[in-house]
Amino acid sequence: MAGKIIDGKFIAKKIREELASGVSSFKEKTGRAPRIDVILVGDNPASHVYVGMKEKAAAEIGIKSVKHEFPSITEKDLIELVKKLKNDREVNGILVQLPLPKDINEENVLSAITAEKDVDGFLAENLGWLCRGKERLQSCTPLGVMKMLEHESVEIEGKHAVVIGRSNIVGKPMMLMLLNKNATVTVCHSRTKDLASHTKTADILVAAAGVPEMVKANMVKDGAVVIDVGTTKVDGKLKGDVDFEGVKERTSLITPVPGGVGPMTIAMLMYNTLQAAKKQEGI
Ligand code: GUN
Repeated sequence: MAGKIIDGKFIAKKIREELASGVSSFKEKTGRAPRIDVILVGDNPASHVYVGMKEKAAAEIGIKSVKHEFPSITEKDLIELVKKLKNDREVNGILVQLPLPKDINEENVLSAITAEKDVDGFLAENLGWLCRGKERLQSCTPLGVMKMLEHESVEIEGKHAVVIGRSNIVGKPMMLMLLNKNATVTVCHSRTKDLASHTKTADILVAAAGVPEMVKANMVKDGAVVIDVGTTKVDGKLKGDVDFEGVKERTSLITPVPGGVGPMTIAMLMYNTLQAAKKQEGI
């Protein structure tokens, strides 16, 4: 069975089009555009690329994005800025691009954002709401995965979902989102013994370990839905966590890298920004 490839680029474009019309009606009602403020510290090349992609998506949809860029900044000054943006009614979403330079404590900076403006869905409060089964601002990558599954009409209830990876940004919220849709969820990670014994029983397999091509064909059940969240640069090329060519023969649905989950993450950031803006304006 050769799996159908899920076209994340196409689904993300459709979502962005829907969002553009949502932004238009927000503008009609409030007289202004939703606004996201993006903070970028240091010279990490990938971070600069990601922020550029976020700005482009925002502009295309009609969301105002304001970039605060610093070659370096103290933790104290950064927290001051976050607090200023948090108290600015014009600002609907605050995004601090990660990773931050090593001399800045990420937790201290993130916790200065208010949950209502946490469009990344990274804050403990928003993760806590997700844990309680309530939909507030949710982490963009796993939310994008859920939208892809929904778009492809993948049944989740009662299915065995296996998530490889336990990060606060992807693995843990992914586990919760699948659980909230009544999947039976197994979370595997770097210390899991006999990974294949778990992945082979997955109806839905989400690979978010950051290890290029670690998921091989013999680790996947026939007919599984395989979602590849991995993006590692290898010899200048983006590689997923799944050995795509081998694995696709066994799946019913599979996401490619690039063009799978990546575009969905950015679309979900725009979705969260519009949701946050609407909630703040009581719409
Ligand atoms: N660094 C890598 N991915 C992300 C993301 O989704 N949000 C933020 N803020 N930083 C990141």
